[in-house]
Amino acid sequence: MACNRAESGILRHVQNGRPIRIAAAGDIHASEPERGRVAGAFAGLQAGTDLVLLAGDLTTCGDPEEVAVLADACRGLDVPVFAVLGNHDWHLDRAGELGDVLGGAGVQLLERSAARFDVRGVPVGVVGLKGFVGGFPDYVLPDFGEPLLRQVYAETTKDVEALERGLREIEGCDVRIVLLHYSPTTTTLEGEPRGIWPFLGSHRLAGPIADHTPDIVLHGHAHAGTFDGFVGRVPVYNVALAVTGRDFWYFELARREPKQTDRPAEVRVE
Ligand SMILES: [Fe+2]
Ligand SMILES: [Fe+2]
Repeated sequence: MACNRAESGILRHVQNGRPIRIAAAGDIHASEPERGRVAGAFAGLQAGTDLVLLAGDLTTCGDPEEVAVLADACRGLDVPVFAVLGNHDWHLDRAGELGDVLGGAGVQLLERSAARFDVRGVPVGVVGLKGFVGGFPDYVLPDFGEPLLRQVYAETTKDVEALERGLREIEGCDVRIVLLHYSPTTTTLEGEPRGIWPFLGSHRLAGPIADHTPDIVLHGHAHAGTFDGFVGRVPVYNVALAVTGRDFWYFELARREPKQTDRPAEVRVE
């Protein structure tokens, strides 16, 4: 299967011409008391869903028993599920165990990594990372001063580098998706107090997105933020449950116009 955006529009090879349907959710915050809600959400996935993307804060406090609730809900699904971790998932510093539990249920955790796969013959690439803090112009953490603060800056640098690397890895795919927990833009943070914006994301994450123009960027974390935003001409969506108000938000990546192969795919929002 050719995997060259320059030669083919998105979904050129799709059977029946049906666009790829993505179900996205962030900040599920699973825990044992929430088992019914979580199980019901996944049991209610719309027919025709091709891909499930989870934008971090999978758990309440990062306990493997909490993520098992999510894993149980995903086990047996016949669509691929990709996830990134959020800050809540790191709270007990047991991220490795969370990955093991998720992996046992077939959920693929992306941690500063990329995956390439086919959806009904269409080459799809997903770059996934938690991202990190640092702020946005006028509210920026500088790379200066105490070593501890410089470590925070350096951690975000690792995310920016991983995002750049991942986007290069999926460069030839017909559909290219970025999955984050922290936001790369303030456009999806409106509604959150400006004083905490430096803890909700980093504008540095926007650099690789602007350079590589993936088709869609999804993130969570900003529970009081705004659903739709952008980085340049790339659409960005905050899919935190508290923002979308539903178990999943569905996106359909539609056919790319042949003469506009350098533009992001049309994104239809339901
Ligand atoms: Fe959250
Ligand atoms: Fe979060």
